[in-house]
Amino acid sequence: MAGIVLVGAQWGDEGKGKITDLLADDMDYVVRFQGGNNAGHTIIHGGRTLKLHLIPSGIMYPHITPVIGNGVVIDPKVMLEEMDQLEADGLTTRRLLISCNAHLIMPYHRDLDGASERRLGSNEIGTTRRGIGPAYMDKASRLGIRVQDLTDVHILRKKIEAALVEKNDLLEKVYGLPTYTVEEIVDEYMGYAERIKPHIADTSQLLNRALRSDQWVFFEGAQGTLLDLDHGTYPFVTSSSPTAGGACTGTGVGPKAIDRVLGIAKAYITRVGSGPFPTELDSTPGSIGEHLTMKGGEFGTTTGRQRRCGWYDGVIIRYAVQINGLTDLVITKLDVLSELDTIKVCVAYEYEGKRYNDLPCHQTVFHHARPIYEELPGWKCDIDHCRTFEELPKEARDYIAFLEDLAEVPVSIIAVGPDRDETIMRRWERRP
Ligand code: IMP
Repeated sequence: MAGIVLVGAQWGDEGKGKITDLLADDMDYVVRFQGGNNAGHTIIHGGRTLKLHLIPSGIMYPHITPVIGNGVVIDPKVMLEEMDQLEADGLTTRRLLISCNAHLIMPYHRDLDGASERRLGSNEIGTTRRGIGPAYMDKASRLGIRVQDLTDVHILRKKIEAALVEKNDLLEKVYGLPTYTVEEIVDEYMGYAERIKPHIADTSQLLNRALRSDQWVFFEGAQGTLLDLDHGTYPFVTSSSPTAGGACTGTGVGPKAIDRVLGIAKAYITRVGSGPFPTELDSTPGSIGEHLTMKGGEFGTTTGRQRRCGWYDGVIIRYAVQINGLTDLVITKLDVLSELDTIKVCVAYEYEGKRYNDLPCHQTVFHHARPIYEELPGWKCDIDHCRTFEELPKEARDYIAFLEDLAEVPVSIIAVGPDRDETIMRRWERRP
């Protein structure tokens, strides 16, 4: 095995940071391939809680080379702050490599993200307002500024000049916001350049070489399948490809280099931001929704927003298996369900008298879909101490078996608590 992809199978926040951290021992490289500092990974390691937004989780391990691939959009200010924080925590960021082709988030991207959300009013997407969407828009319209532009002030100035012709008009005339001068942005970004330059590399070449020589490369997804620009619940999605295909386009390796695709899902489901959510639970005091929110600590790592909670949606997971070609499922936060008398799982939807076993293609059907549930008995006891599947109570094993049958993919790893060792490794062969 050499190329392993980990993707969110739901709407993000499934616990990718913990699983990446857990599998990191075996890896030579941990690579981010899409998104930017809209992601939030909380890693609890050796009694320390680390919150990473942009830098790959592999940074914690001295034997790993952390890589930010070409598909990522980088806010250099945020990245340098994160690096400073890691250094202050005693971790070195010297090994971090950044693709020369990754795009930069510029100050006007952040302004435009906020302004367009405000303009949408009640129709807002609920973005993280970090400038992610506008940065990807510029990438697609060939107005983007790339990491390699930081190495040549003349090119950087020319590109910023070209971008500002449009951005200043937009900021001033459409949104009534202050504009920028070329020099102020050039000065700011050249200030970052000196620190970033030693990390810039041809990461595609490097990763291809590593994969050819059987080194282990871990592609760490951010967000989740249903936030994918193409395959998610458009328009309530992010602007990149958090699905497995994104690991190839976002790093410059071919699909044949991928040996295993892990899809991670909570034992229930959450979503932040707006958009349809068939199994959403009410979160009023005393409700099951509130219980999941509080017990699961369902507040965003990046924005602190309360996450919407719902029952596990098997239709969504089957869809994630299909879109990503999942070989395994990783189920996290099983312990959050421990106090419940019964647990519901959505097995299909119903709309206008018709049953949908698969995710409906039409947005109207998905928006109005009513979940069809199966109700399973709860286990009503702590499972945090369980380290093998056999140690789990029968009801918990049955719950996992039920999810496996629904997804037609094995559940290979189960998390029973936030700590690194609160995990059951069912099917994970350590590197020889
Ligand atoms: P953006 O990525 O900031 O443009 O936001 C677009 C949508 O993706 C919004 O609904 C966000 O709440 C959601 N989103 C972005 N990043 C994450 C994440 O890491 N976890 C969960 N939702 C996210």
